[in-house]
Amino acid sequence: MGKVITFSNQKGGSGKSTLSANLAVLWSNSGYKVAVIDADPQKSLTYWLSERKKYYGDDDIGINFYNFDIRNLAEEVKKIKRKYDFIIIDSPPAITFETLQIIKASNGVFVPVQPSPLDLMATLPFLQIAREEKKKPLIILNRVMPRAKLTDAMILRLRYSGAKIARSRISSKVIFAESFAVGRGVIDINVTSDAAKEIINVGNEILRNL
Ligand SMILES: Nc1ncnc2c1ncn2[C@@H]1O[C@H](COP(=O)(O)OP(=O)(O)OP(=O)(O)O)[C@@H](O)[C@H]1O
Ligand SMILES: [Mg+2]
Repeated sequence: MGKVITFSNQKGGSGKSTLSANLAVLWSNSGYKVAVIDADPQKSLTYWLSERKKYYGDDDIGINFYNFDIRNLAEEVKKIKRKYDFIIIDSPPAITFETLQIIKASNGVFVPVQPSPLDLMATLPFLQIAREEKKKPLIILNRVMPRAKLTDAMILRLRYSGAKIARSRISSKVIFAESFAVGRGVIDINVTSDAAKEIINVGNEILRNL
């Protein structure tokens, strides 16, 4: 039975779509059957997939795409769960009825957060909601700058709030933005790059937390 993995946070621009795309590429390139659902009306992931089709050709993107009505998500996902190892959902930056349906339908909720005080504050209510749904949200620090003192202070505050934080972090690197724009993941470009290693580590940690 496939695992439903959601990247969610009501804070905009935290890296939900970037992680959705890169983890889809990681698992697909590793031989798993992967589907993605773009639950965000901004449709960033849909754009990424259309660029991916231009790059690799319609039948060769390695990832299946579903455009479900989010209000019936749980039933829709149930119908396709057998066909996939991983179903990745990219969520909108909001806490709405739809977001709750996504959280309920998920096996794991992963919460990208940029290590800044404002982003942290905006994330705390979302963590609470995920916990109320009996999901143990795991924070993934994204766009981490090298040697940032702020990051340590943020980690302390997040821990104090009871949040679980992934050991693996994603650095701030232009390659994440550049590869997304052309429908690729950092793993497609160079599987031994620092960015690729970060995605591989995050992927493994996600699997350990399902
Ligand atoms: N690790 C990173 N290094 C550099 N740029 C990044 C990184 N992660 C994300 N970005 C860039 O930051 C911006 C926001 O990322 P992304 O679109 O993944 O966030 P999001 O949470 O999906 O946003 P939204 O809430 O609007 O859906 C994008 O321009 C993306 O390319
Ligand atoms: Mg997004």
